[in-house]
Amino acid sequence: MQASLSLKPAIDAIGEAVDARFDRLLAVPNDPRATLYEAMCYALMGGGKRMRPLLVVASCDLFNVDRERAMRVALAIEAVHVYSLVHDDLPCMDDDDLRRGKPTVHKVYDEAMAVLTGDSLFAVAFELLADEATHEDPFVRSELVLELARASGPAGMAGGQVMDIAAETQTFDLPTTTRLQQLKTGALIGFSVEAGAIMGKVGPATRLKLKGYARDLGLAFQIADDLLDVEGDPELAGKALRKDGEAGKSTFVSLLGVERARAQAEMLIDQAIHHLQGFGPEADLLRAIARFAIERDR
Ligand code: IPE
Ligand code: IPE
Ligand code: MG
Ligand code: MG
Ligand code: MG
Repeated sequence: MQASLSLKPAIDAIGEAVDARFDRLLAVPNDPRATLYEAMCYALMGGGKRMRPLLVVASCDLFNVDRERAMRVALAIEAVHVYSLVHDDLPCMDDDDLRRGKPTVHKVYDEAMAVLTGDSLFAVAFELLADEATHEDPFVRSELVLELARASGPAGMAGGQVMDIAAETQTFDLPTTTRLQQLKTGALIGFSVEAGAIMGKVGPATRLKLKGYARDLGLAFQIADDLLDVEGDPELAGKALRKDGEAGKSTFVSLLGVERARAQAEMLIDQAIHHLQGFGPEADLLRAIARFAIERDR
């Protein structure tokens, strides 16, 4: 638990930084759209581990990217992640009442507002990336937009969610489950890590190392989520657990059992850290995040 303890100040700091900037970005207008802005703020603020923003900042720090610019990318990926959670919790998907220890958006507002909150968060992410304040080079901005679009759509998160729904009625083998997890969770984590390489305009060899780190981390992160679903404390997790088994979903845990799934996640994290070999202490935060990804209790 040493690594997760040492990560706590970084997690607290990124949480505060993310909240403060979303608060500034989303002033509630005095017109009939007020509820939409309130729902967006409700979904975004005061919760979550903020692991994707932390990954963006950690990868940008490797290449001395300006912190305010890095934070814009961090907000963008968190907005897409939160959009994915708001929709994931809808009655037509996982039908969940609790998220980050609070009632879900469709419970506090209604389903239409939850759909539109997700849509709006998704749009806000691209608005953030495409703005000149994120990077002066339009090629960098366009690459950020391209990569986030890829990571979110049918070849990324949304495609993974479709496979995840299919996993309730079909038994997937290990390679298919791996692919599912890489799309559903790995793609957005991959973007978070690669963002530093894009912003820092680094060459393909360095980018490849980060890609390798992100691939193994993303997979281990989702295995940890599936282990938490089986073994975690819902109080700490802030969401309903024991849902995957109930739904009869194929996951790494259903396929391998708890012990082998945990061993697999640990092996993946060792491998992720191994990809960072060429980096010095500047990559220590990325190493600590990798350990935290599987040691976490929420
Ligand atoms: C939950 O993600 C959904 C998955 C992709 C596993 P997180 O575990 O990062 O959720 P928050 O952001 O901390 O609430
Ligand atoms: C959700 O996966 C992943 C995305 C939102 C893309 P889960 O359905 O396993 O996430 P939790 O357990 O509800 O957080
Ligand atoms: Mg789901
Ligand atoms: Mg869910
Ligand atoms: Mg889950």
